[in-house]
Amino acid sequence: MHQNQSLQGRVALVTGASAGIGMAIAVELASRGAGLVLNARRESRLDELAQRISDQHGMINGKPRAVCVPGDASDDDTINAMLEAAQEHFGKPADLIVANAGRGLNGSVMTSDTAQWEEMLRTNLLGVAKLMRRSGEQLLKLNEGRDWTKHPSDMVVLGSTVGRHISPFSSMYGATKFGVNSLAEAARRELGPKGIRVTLIEPGIVKSEFQGVAGYDPESFGQLMEKFAPVLMPEDVARTIGFIVAQPAGVHVCDVVIRPTRQDYP
Ligand SMILES: NC(=O)c1ccc[n+]([C@@H]2O[C@H](COP(=O)([O-])OP(=O)(O)OC[C@H]3O[C@@H](n4cnc5c(N)ncnc54)[C@H](OP(=O)(O)O)[C@@H]3O)[C@@H](O)[C@H]2O)c1
Repeated sequence: MHQNQSLQGRVALVTGASAGIGMAIAVELASRGAGLVLNARRESRLDELAQRISDQHGMINGKPRAVCVPGDASDDDTINAMLEAAQEHFGKPADLIVANAGRGLNGSVMTSDTAQWEEMLRTNLLGVAKLMRRSGEQLLKLNEGRDWTKHPSDMVVLGSTVGRHISPFSSMYGATKFGVNSLAEAARRELGPKGIRVTLIEPGIVKSEFQGVAGYDPESFGQLMEKFAPVLMPEDVARTIGFIVAQPAGVHVCDVVIRPTRQDYP
């Protein structure tokens, strides 16, 4: 158990929880006492994680600490099912939303595989916007009937350093993360005054399944990883998010760039 049980009573929803950063975030939030709604497309991975979380961090009111909603995070029905699962399983809406599901793509506008553009844009940008909209509606309603200063609520969005600085190697992917960057800041300005924290996390290189999915050349990317070694691990990002969402409701660490110390650019 985490020393600080500051997320006790809260319900977190994490997309892209079957691997990498999302999986580490789910474990971190559970260790701080939250209940979890887990989403990704690979159901068996989610089931294993949910079991591990309940085994390690205990049940909540006699029910498993984590419930799974497999499916595409950009799909309307899946988004609705995730929000409903929180209410049904924990008896209250999710108040800690982590829009993490995403994928990279090697190459630029001129060199990346155009057949993968639509899926990437849908997952990285449209899916995040839809989740922000639907969960935002719920969080606003939730805050109408309560004193928000006593009840923190969060949306955490995974951007990237390439959503802030242009990468010549993955500029098409970077364009989706520039979009996420502006979405998160716009939502922060809109929802912050209503007591909802919208936080943008922009990691540099993190070792995960990301590099394989993006199709980076293992040799040249391996050299880059070596140059910046040690690169970040998913737990480094998760720990940072755990710290942020556990702050009192009136405190918002809103934008975090987290890089391997030796990563100079992007
Ligand atoms: N790794 C890095 O260097 C890095 C740096 C900066 C930002 N990020 C961002 O961090 C986030 C997590 O990346 P990661 O490094 O953890 O990558 P990862 O290890 O490849 O994990 C990606 C996760 O997203 C899920 N996912 C992908 N498409 C999905 C969809 N349409 N619907 C639902 N789930 C989906 C995957 O699960 P399924 O395949 O089972 O659906 C997986 O759980 C992404 O938004 C990524 O852009 C990563």
